[in-house]
Amino acid sequence: MSDGTTRLDPDAAAGLIPNLVTQAELNEFEARNILLAEIWASSRLSEKDDILVYSNVIKLHRRMFNMTWKWAGKLRRYDTNIGVSSFAIQQRLLQLCDNIRFRIQVDQSRLVEIAADFHYELVAIHAFPNGNGRHARLATDLLLLQHGEPRFSWGRALGVDNDVRRERYIQALRLADIGDFNALYAFVVS
Ligand SMILES: Nc1ncnc2c1ncn2[C@@H]1O[C@H](COP(=O)(O)OP(=O)(O)OP(=O)(O)O)[C@@H](O)[C@H]1O
Ligand SMILES: [Mg+2]
Repeated sequence: MSDGTTRLDPDAAAGLIPNLVTQAELNEFEARNILLAEIWASSRLSEKDDILVYSNVIKLHRRMFNMTWKWAGKLRRYDTNIGVSSFAIQQRLLQLCDNIRFRIQVDQSRLVEIAADFHYELVAIHAFPNGNGRHARLATDLLLLQHGEPRFSWGRALGVDNDVRRERYIQALRLADIGDFNALYAFVVS
């Protein structure tokens, strides 16, 4: 059944703010919420809004999903198969922000690689109940924009349909899981 008629199951709808019936409606609602957050965030690239500050990482997720989900901007409180122990999330995010800031200070010419690593670590931490992929992609783009670099294209220039693009993306993350980051570095700028 396509998303257009697939009804949201009650578990999936828990925490949903608007009264929506189908997955397609939810997708559209989320996309609009995220678009507003993108506009909001891309007009705020000053030091005060530095994405490498823990509270700004959280705030971005909140802004992306605040009209859609009650748990927007709230850390995951249970363990999942992807992601660190829920008890470790805050500390891992703090460390990640520090590490990435340090690496940029040391060698800004490697920003593309550092930003891809930032993305990988964010999704590996999996800080939120949902929306981690979209949040981590936007956070990474903001990091690039903050440093005057263009956003990543995330495979959109490959000329493949969204399902294939998605497959390549996940495949690149899986390779990174076993220590090979080359596919991810190529994917983000392709
Ligand atoms: N094997 C993996 N290793 C690391 N990260 C992964 C792996 N598989 C999936 N991910 C990441 O987890 C994300 C899915 O998590 P989640 O559902 O919280 O995010 P999302 O924003 O809803 O996802 P989507 O990208 O589908 O919109 C993927 O987008 C990807 O970034
Ligand atoms: Mg999801």
